[in-house]
Amino acid sequence: MVSLQTVQQANLGIGSLPAGLVALFMGATSGIGQSALQHFAQHASSPRIYSVARPSAVGSHEAFLASLRDSNPSGTYNLIEADVSLISEIDRIVAGIKENETKIDILFMSAGFMAFEGRRDTREGLDPSMTTRYYSRLRLVQQLVPLLNKAPSPRVVSVLGGGLEGPLNERDLDLRDPKNWSFWNSSIHSGTMGTLTLERIARANPHLSIIHWFPGTVATPGLARANKFGMSPPNPTSADEAGQRALFLATNDRYSVQGGLVPVPIGLSPVPKSGGGIFLVDPAGEGANNERLLAGLRSRGVDETVWRFTEGVFASTQGGKPKDEL
Ligand SMILES: NC(=O)c1ccc[n+]([C@@H]2O[C@H](COP(=O)([O-])OP(=O)(O)OC[C@H]3O[C@@H](n4cnc5c(N)ncnc54)[C@H](OP(=O)(O)O)[C@@H]3O)[C@@H](O)[C@H]2O)c1
Repeated sequence: MVSLQTVQQANLGIGSLPAGLVALFMGATSGIGQSALQHFAQHASSPRIYSVARPSAVGSHEAFLASLRDSNPSGTYNLIEADVSLISEIDRIVAGIKENETKIDILFMSAGFMAFEGRRDTREGLDPSMTTRYYSRLRLVQQLVPLLNKAPSPRVVSVLGGGLEGPLNERDLDLRDPKNWSFWNSSIHSGTMGTLTLERIARANPHLSIIHWFPGTVATPGLARANKFGMSPPNPTSADEAGQRALFLATNDRYSVQGGLVPVPIGLSPVPKSGGGIFLVDPAGEGANNERLLAGLRSRGVDETVWRFTEGVFASTQGGKPKDEL
């Protein structure tokens, strides 16, 4: 377990990193992402921050970014209005960033929700709980790989269920058949398909560090919603602590293929990668091992099946041919 004190001490080192780190947050209008963004803005020197908000959250997020601007006027804070429950919005986000930036240092993704109310497809014909937690995240990483590869020590953090991957319904990856869909199955599919495809991106881009984190139970608006549907796991971590821990994952060399950001704290050793090449991390900040399941999926080529399926989904939502930016 990495103590919160160690995390806080290490995060102070972010202030010594080169000025002008570029970071994109998707899901920072509340909860873990918002806290991670707040702590990043506090510590970083002249950061260039982009944060995505859907229309209903634009007003409150503008006010939040204004408060960050007050506390660290050296930074730039850009709100991108987009509803990431639609994959087609991702390319618009990426196009806007490419107009202004030549590199991305940190991509932080924590958008998503559990669909306790049942499956209500978007106009793209997809379950929005899977889109926010899987399809849009993967599309964003895939499209930003060229900019990530231009940063000296690029890092991707996906907050969901690293280490908790489970068996997939391989004949119905999108859980289209109502008999196959449940809010739990869509969560397992999002996390497992996320790990398998992020691993593929990591293997094709050895310079890129990718972390898939399971944050444990965290007291956020998302958890408050779960409480209303009878899910009340005990002893949640505060969103503030989870945000600091998330920032540690995003900036500490403990979770890195090559170092170059904040050095590993004395007394801790680097976390090993999964067999597929990413960092699966548990709530305490330690490496999670789910190789028994993941190695079996990889050896049967399920990772490739998931990749091809996802490419097909992207093609259908972009109205064009699959575009592989690896
Ligand atoms: N909290 C936990 O205990 C816990 C445990 C394990 C995994 N997770 C996962 O970790 C991630 C972050 O969790 P959190 O607790 O910080 O969540 P949160 O406070 O509910 O924040 C989720 C973010 O996702 C966005 N979002 C939610 N529903 C959306 C939709 N339909 N369309 C577009 N954007 C949507 C939210 O935007 P708005 O502000 O506009 O709603 C917000 O930016 C989530 O994927 C969650 O499933 C959380």
